[in-house]
Amino acid sequence: MNIIKVSNYEELSRRAAELIAAQVWNKPNCVLGLATGSTPIGTYKELVRMNKSGDLDFSKVTTVNLDEYVGLDGSNDQSYRYFMNDNLFNHVNIDKANTHVPNGKAADLAAEGARYDAFIESLGGTDIQLLGIGHDGHIGFNEPDDVFYKATHEVKLDEMTIKANARFFANEDEVPKTAITMGMWAIMQAKKVLLIANGMDKKEIVEKAFFGPVTPKVPASILQCHKDVTVIYTY
Ligand code: PGA
Repeated sequence: MNIIKVSNYEELSRRAAELIAAQVWNKPNCVLGLATGSTPIGTYKELVRMNKSGDLDFSKVTTVNLDEYVGLDGSNDQSYRYFMNDNLFNHVNIDKANTHVPNGKAADLAAEGARYDAFIESLGGTDIQLLGIGHDGHIGFNEPDDVFYKATHEVKLDEMTIKANARFFANEDEVPKTAITMGMWAIMQAKKVLLIANGMDKKEIVEKAFFGPVTPKVPASILQCHKDVTVIYTY
């Protein structure tokens, strides 16, 4: 595990974007696993800057996102599809047909989860998976539980997650109560994992996840079992 402490959010964003860019330079038709949330916004800005300056070409890249709220479609500005379009895809030369987010409007979410995992497998997996970390240790929307869930699946969001994400909605009641998320198979099969964490409020959970026991009570702790993980954090 490669744990890098940086001095501020700008440096975190630049270092994370450089690792993603290096992946695209090495393999222009790579598969990027992408994440939403506040933390990756600076990383995406930096990737957009590199694309606009001609240093980074997304034309052959495929992306798969970690998760989506159940019940929101891509035109809803709180959906993760909307977030990805707005923060990255609309601003770079990626073919939108090659960008994938689980379908939170699927009538059968179990079937959607199976389809998503089979699709990731058909791509040969992700070359690099970008992750944030929740205050409760979630990655994607894999919340603390008694077991690690393997498949892409529907999940009930924790109170802590609903409260944290309420900042993006008019009020807490509007935050969807369930989501569909990649499970641990799709995350762990990534050839490389890049987890980014920003702020004093993430310090305790980063320490628990990477220096504590591996337990589904701290979902990110499973990454201690992955062979190529980089954590970049600042607080
Ligand atoms: P944040 O979310 O980047 O908005 O802090 C991280 C996460 O919940 O995975």
